[in-house]
Amino acid sequence: MRDLNQKKGRKRNVSAGTEVPSLSKGGPAPKNKNPIIYKEKPMISKALQDAINDQINKELYSSYLYLSMAAYFQNKSLPGFAHWMRVQESEERAHAMKLYDFLIDRGSRVALKAIDAPPSNWKGSPEVFTEVAAHEAKVTASIHALYELALKEKDYPAQVMLQWFISEQVEEEKSAAEIVASLNMIESHASAILQLDHRLSKRGSD
Ligand code: FEO
Repeated sequence: MRDLNQKKGRKRNVSAGTEVPSLSKGGPAPKNKNPIIYKEKPMISKALQDAINDQINKELYSSYLYLSMAAYFQNKSLPGFAHWMRVQESEERAHAMKLYDFLIDRGSRVALKAIDAPPSNWKGSPEVFTEVAAHEAKVTASIHALYELALKEKDYPAQVMLQWFISEQVEEEKSAAEIVASLNMIESHASAILQLDHRLSKRGSD
């Protein structure tokens, strides 16, 4: 049997740019004077890839933060507040995966980083939700910076993908601000806190 690596009958493997044997019968394949060779080329700029990887880390930190808040509320016997945080943490993981899948789909590299430990104790519900509102404002600023970079890089698919996040952040900030406002009105009235706890327990079921 002829050595398939012999010179005759070879042709270009266009994806890797290396030579592979021809499988055609009846001798070597005709030479193509202008073979198309696709070189490995990132579909997304390094700067944008790094910034999206950073954003994945921020979304995963958000998930960690809300999971910690869920545990705090569970320990305070406020299962509705805890439920709201569990739904929120699950949404944050989905945000991270949306960015993760975007990098994969664009032939880019996902580089996961260490996630910082979140706080685990607060002075009360108003402090927790004030932190949620402040955290979401920071995430919004980060998404806007990412969008600015996508504009600068003229990366149109990234712009479209990030527009979803821009709208999502409007919702995230709005819902956190509403709960902060409710808690400020309620102050420490136990029956009103329990009513709010009941309302928050319905998140995801309406
Ligand atoms: Fe994914 Fe709440 O930001």
